Amino acid sequence: MAISKKVNGFMENSSWIRKMFEEGIRLKKEFGEENVFDLSLGNPVIEPPQKVQDALVQAAKDTSPGLHRYMPNAGFQDVREAISKTLSEECKVTLSANDLVMVCGAAGGLNITLKTLLDSGDEVLIFAPYFVEYLFYADNHGGKVVSVKTHDDFTLNFDALKNALNEKTKAVIINSPNNPTGVVYSREELKQLAKILKKHSDKSGRPVYLISDDPYKKITFDGVEAANILELYENSIYITSHSKDIALAGERIGFVAVHPKCEDADNLMAGLIFSNRVLGFVNAPALIQRVLKNVQGVTVNVEQYRKKRDFLYGELVRIGYEVVKPQGAFYFFPKSPIKDEVEFVNKLAEKKVLVVPGRGFGCPGYFRISYCLPDSVIEGSIPGFESAFQAYL
Ligand SMILES: Cc1ncc(COP(=O)(O)O)c(C=O)c1O
Repeated sequence: MAISKKVNGFMENSSWIRKMFEEGIRLKKEFGEENVFDLSLGNPVIEPPQKVQDALVQAAKDTSPGLHRYMPNAGFQDVREAISKTLSEECKVTLSANDLVMVCGAAGGLNITLKTLLDSGDEVLIFAPYFVEYLFYADNHGGKVVSVKTHDDFTLNFDALKNALNEKTKAVIINSPNNPTGVVYSREELKQLAKILKKHSDKSGRPVYLISDDPYKKITFDGVEAANILELYENSIYITSHSKDIALAGERIGFVAVHPKCEDADNLMAGLIFSNRVLGFVNAPALIQRVLKNVQGVTVNVEQYRKKRDFLYGELVRIGYEVVKPQGAFYFFPKSPIKDEVEFVNKLAEKKVLVVPGRGFGCPGYFRISYCLPDSVIEGSIPGFESAFQAYL
């Protein structure tokens, strides 16, 4: 076999999203595109805001010399300055360009961070349900992931966290607004989390770094605040991207910000910059970095997602699904009406509705719906959701 046993095993066991995507292609071929409702992928159909499109055209037109060359591995200095200014206002901590590394999306940011932090066997705590790529990213860098359960409403379970923390714990990853649940951790919850990690770090003499993976940070509803971890915990690393908030997923752009008072901050920054280089990213794409400088504070119209959430939530509850109302991002994580959610997801596929089984997120018995889609797809899926549910009454 050409590929390693490990990659082969990962590919066979862990790609529910991919499986559903392929099932969607098969169903669309058989029944026609308009008769299949694929709510499995988190690839937003909303276009980037006009201001972003204009800045992109302007950046492309700039023929000044040197704009497309290699740059410092951390990214353009002026771009990082502009972002650090915006971020400092947001999180009420004074950051400078030197606290930031421009990266190829949050995925790139997570990989350089884990590479920089982890020694072989170090543990990384993640809360279930989780973004499944964390498993692979930690494995990329020799880390061991430990899954920590959450409460029934997917808020943080501090008893479970305390039980999981030990002398091997190097980092904790959180994600709020959350994929797959749409839950936003409250400021109080994050304060409590910070307190527990600080206490553990002090006791063990080894800092636990809190990584906040937040590409959905700007997508919250009903005035709910997604507090920034930099404001609440010194040993924190904030990772975000513009894949969702300005719909630039294909452009692969984001940044990592390290709290200036983080333990060993200078070394950590140097490690992140080095890892950006040796993981082969070298630096984040130049053109789109320059666009960011001119669109600070711009986001997609979050109201569009709010309307989709309200419609779908109303329908799911009317049908009888048990589901936590999301406060952000663009996912629902309802309870499967039967224990075996894979059987239920297959029943939905029979009705031409595609979603992802919860076990793909470390949480069997649930399934994920993605609603960053055209209204026609969301509306068209309702009869399928209804008749699949009724099949088990
Ligand atoms: C929780 C979470 N983290 C990270 C990512 C990766 O985002 P990016 O496209 O910025 O790499 C995603 C993408 O869906 C995500 O849902």
